[in-house]
Amino acid sequence: MNDRTVIVTGASRGIGEAIARDLAAAGYNLALVARGGEALAALAAELGAGCRAYPCDISRWDEVERTVAAVNADFGAIYGLVNNAGMTRDGLLMRMTPEQWQAPLDVNLNGTFFFTRAVTPLMMRARQGRLINISSVIGLTGNAGQANYAASKAGIIALTKSVAKELGGRNVTCNAVAPGFIATDMTADLPEKVKTAMLEQIPLKRFGEGRDVAGVVRFLLSPEASYITGQTLVVDGGMVV
Ligand code: NAI
Repeated sequence: MNDRTVIVTGASRGIGEAIARDLAAAGYNLALVARGGEALAALAAELGAGCRAYPCDISRWDEVERTVAAVNADFGAIYGLVNNAGMTRDGLLMRMTPEQWQAPLDVNLNGTFFFTRAVTPLMMRARQGRLINISSVIGLTGNAGQANYAASKAGIIALTKSVAKELGGRNVTCNAVAPGFIATDMTADLPEKVKTAMLEQIPLKRFGEGRDVAGVVRFLLSPEASYITGQTLVVDGGMVV
């Protein structure tokens, strides 16, 4: 067992919840971040000692700064950060409003930058740290109806590579994970026709589950991954090759 502390954003449900459950079972202390609500507090209570909930809107720098300071005060050190929280605001470019364009950039890209920026001084001082950013295969391929989301997720990959180059000298690694189609609330509302068409494009013939992503995150936090940085690991059942 280990007692290192990891921040997981978007931990109240979906992939973030799966990551939290997996890392708690592996013995990590966890700081669970989401916009708030009962699900987050209930999960922290269920996972028990060593796990605390921090309601925070990741698109707001003041809230992120305050949250990271609170986590550091509560746990004493921060070993890992999993930037998982994200959202979609789909629509065709022709009809996309500036607000619609901006929303996923504010949450997905700015939120990832804000948390990375806030933990970096602590990790640099500790001369160790693991930064893991949840991107998406859409950030690699683009997608009709998701220009805003795709741009935010591609931005995360470029951010990941840049941070890896800046912080490598301090023994801080930064990698991205790009999931394909994972069955969560985010994908639940897609029409059956779309889901069937997507399944046909997946060589492993099933949708991914949160734990498929969680296992890769756990690996990237492990000693075995200490020489990996700046990479994007695709977890998509072979959809994008
Ligand atoms: P979800 O919608 O089930 O959960 C999103 C989480 O992010 C929730 O905990 C929510 O509270 C949190 N969140 C959203 N906006 C926030 C904000 N402003 N401040 C704080 N927390 C906020 O989504 P899901 O499917 O679990 O996705 C998790 C991550 O994985 C996202 O970054 C998503 O883009 C990415 N992803 C998901 C895929 C999928 O097929 N489900 C595929 C590829 C990437």
